Order: sequence, then structure tokens, then C-alpha cells
Amino acid sequence: MPQLNRDVRHPVSLTLNGKKVQGHAEPRMLLSDFLTHEIGITSCHVGCEHGVCGACTVLIDGNVSRACLTFAVQADGAAVDTAESLADDEGELSALQQAFKKHHGLQCGYCTPGILMSITAYLKEKPKPTEDELRDMLSGHLCRCTGYVGMVRAVLDYCENSGAGAKAE
Ligand code: FES
Ligand code: FES
Repeated sequence: MPQLNRDVRHPVSLTLNGKKVQGHAEPRMLLSDFLTHEIGITSCHVGCEHGVCGACTVLIDGNVSRACLTFAVQADGAAVDTAESLADDEGELSALQQAFKKHHGLQCGYCTPGILMSITAYLKEKPKPTEDELRDMLSGHLCRCTGYVGMVRAVLDYCENSGAGAKAE
């Protein structure tokens, strides 16, 4: 990365959920703060701010990433996907989101956007996980409300009814 003046706000361009956006960030501004305060995204939640809880999880160039551990300037030029990308333009929930709703995979919903993004990426690699595999993957996220049972049921139901290899969107 080139040398950056820490007092200067630098232009940061992203392809965010398929659309070009631009804002400005000081070199130490976190991607989570940039998405929330500079761009106006509401799904990138911050819990621990040190990479543990997973609430801030987004996809950067398709890779599961903690936005609280990423500087906004590091994401310049990247494709970033947040939970806003899951529903369609009319607000119709994706099949995965509908499965979460059906199986009570969320309560307060604070952890949910990050979890949905992790699951979305995971199912592209492993469209038919076992329950144990799914629980292992979900161990990378903290949820204070649900006990995870509804999430596991939701994903297994989604996988069963959407067919192997189906996209999570
Ligand atoms: S806020 Fe990023 S992992 Fe907890
Ligand atoms: S639904 Fe409340 S923290 Fe997970």
C-alpha cells in the first residue's frame, strides 16, 4: 500500500452490492465505519471491533471478511457485498432469508447480516453441509439470542429445498 498521510481523507471507490459508490476515508478509518457513516449501509453491525463476534462480516471480492479488521482504504477498488445484496430490488427476501424467518433463525437480528454473508459464501463452496459442518462454520459468529438451533434448521431446510449447488441469494 502506498504511504498515506494520516490526516488526509482519501477517496475510496467500491463496487458495493453491484453498484459503484465513492466516499472518503482517513487512512485509519475502518471499513465498517466507512460503510455505515460514509456510505449509509445499515447492515454492517459492530459488536466486538476486534474480529471475534462476526457481526461486521461482509464479502470483499467474494471472500468472507471482518469489516472491523479492514481499513476502508484497503478495500479501495474492491467489490464489497453486504446483507443488502440478498433481497431483490423490490425488497423480496432471498430464499435463505425466508428460511431464517420461517425457522426463527434470528431474534434481535444484530448478528444476522454477518451470519447471512458467511453462510452465503460457505454454501457456494459446500452446498450440502452436514449439521456438524454447519455448526462448525457458525462457531465463527457469536449470537446472544438464538442458541443457533433455528439458524441450523433454516440453513438445512434451505439446502434441502433449494437443491445442491443452488446459490444462497
Ligand atoms: S465487530 Fe467485527 S468481528 Fe466483531
Ligand atoms: S439474534 Fe440477537 S445476537 Fe443473534
